[in-house]
Amino acid sequence: MYEQLILTGPMGSGKSSLGQILAGQLGFGFIDLDHLIAQQAGKNINRIFHEDGEERFRQLETAVLESIIGQRQVVIATGGGAVLSETNRGLMGRNGLVVNLTAALSELVKRLEPTNDRPLLKGEEPLESRIKRIVEEREPFYAEADIRIDTTCKTLEDTAAEILAFYEQKRLENL
Ligand code: S3P
Repeated sequence: MYEQLILTGPMGSGKSSLGQILAGQLGFGFIDLDHLIAQQAGKNINRIFHEDGEERFRQLETAVLESIIGQRQVVIATGGGAVLSETNRGLMGRNGLVVNLTAALSELVKRLEPTNDRPLLKGEEPLESRIKRIVEEREPFYAEADIRIDTTCKTLEDTAAEILAFYEQKRLENL
């Protein structure tokens, strides 16, 4: 039986907010991978990218994922790029039910426009084309999930209910 729900998806797809709701409803713990990475590095994600580079961030991401992947009864919100690593994808796929959150490009832009905590979205390139490029590059990896849920125009509660129904169905199949 699955005792771990792992959320993947691009920045702005709602992984952290939904993860907390799902954890509450399942009575599971909640782990935000980026939060743990920042805690372990002693600095926020922007500073890790700026001072140590993306490669170092990806190393930390894998190390932290490895350190928590054995935990049961948890919902894990991953960072949008966690799926880039084959090692990470293997760890996720073997240990939990992987739920990929998607959203229309316009919706991602709307959600990400007011934020400034995403190092990959900084720079000259317009936000929309940058997000589009990142999402397209990762699409085959996001597609490896057990289920994909479009969050466009849905409330967090509706999306959570959809995920919980799928989780329950899988749980019963595996009893
Ligand atoms: C990243 C997404 C971020 C964070 C880092 C890199 C990415 O997490 O891990 O800025 O590569 O897409 P969120 O998806 O939670 O924003």
